Amino acid sequence: MSIIMLNIIIALYTYIFQITAITLIAAVVVLMVRYLILSIKEKSYYPAQWLYMLKNKKISTELIQLEKNYDDKIRFYNFWFQIERIKKENVKGAFAELGVYKGETAKIIHEMERSRKLHLFDTFEGFKKDDLKAETGEAATYSTKNFADTDEKKVLKYINGNNNIIIHKGHFPDTTKDLESEIFALVNIDADLYNPIKKGCEYFYKHLSPGGVIIIHDYNNKWEGAIKAVNEFTKTIPENIIEVPDMHGTVMIIKNKVVK
Ligand SMILES: C[S@@+](CC[C@H](N)C(=O)[O-])C[C@H]1O[C@@H](n2cnc3c(N)ncnc32)[C@H](O)[C@@H]1O
Repeated sequence: MSIIMLNIIIALYTYIFQITAITLIAAVVVLMVRYLILSIKEKSYYPAQWLYMLKNKKISTELIQLEKNYDDKIRFYNFWFQIERIKKENVKGAFAELGVYKGETAKIIHEMERSRKLHLFDTFEGFKKDDLKAETGEAATYSTKNFADTDEKKVLKYINGNNNIIIHKGHFPDTTKDLESEIFALVNIDADLYNPIKKGCEYFYKHLSPGGVIIIHDYNNKWEGAIKAVNEFTKTIPENIIEVPDMHGTVMIIKNKVVK
């Protein structure tokens, strides 16, 4: 092969190499710019009312941090809007959560309204066998080991709240026996399974103030027990469910006000 031919081949290879390198660098730059634009745009989705309260320094540093770290922003803001509404409308009663696990949503709810009692219901040992027996769909693959890696002392430490937090350890609804006279303004049901969700709706609706809200998580087709429990229960009450388009599907029941 002549020297000229060899030079032509080397020049060709160098040219192809340079074009490939430039194309790759351009693709990385485009992806980075796109990522930057999307993350800036995402940050601009703060609800106007949240921004107003932020500007007026009416949101605690702790809550601002919790919002930053929580993935499901729509779920977060839904809790916040409901709690703000309850405060504005002066809906009477305590707050409660059925399905606490390590206390992530309980901490958020407590931080949004520290002056109300917050009753926390959980086995703090995971699901019970009898509840699991009734399950179909995704929940049928769960066992008593799921959500068992927690305990109430760690939860209280994590929430780092005040004396308004009351733990009810054990199988729900057995743990409601001493609470016949309590009334509730906001209840978060996040128990995944048919039995506790159904019993939770029945117990808390009976004790819910007019204007009070029950928020139920996991109303999506993976969680057949949750859908069945909510649908069966709502047939027995005058209110409709309100669907919240958060990550895993939440529904709310807001008890009708009594108009005088
Ligand atoms: C999905 S986890 C709750 C997640 C929690 N809200 C959070 O923020 O991470 C479901 C919880 O429901 C509890 N649970 C389910 N059935 C229950 C029952 N019958 N009585 C008490 N706790 C129950 C489980 O022990 C588990 O901790």
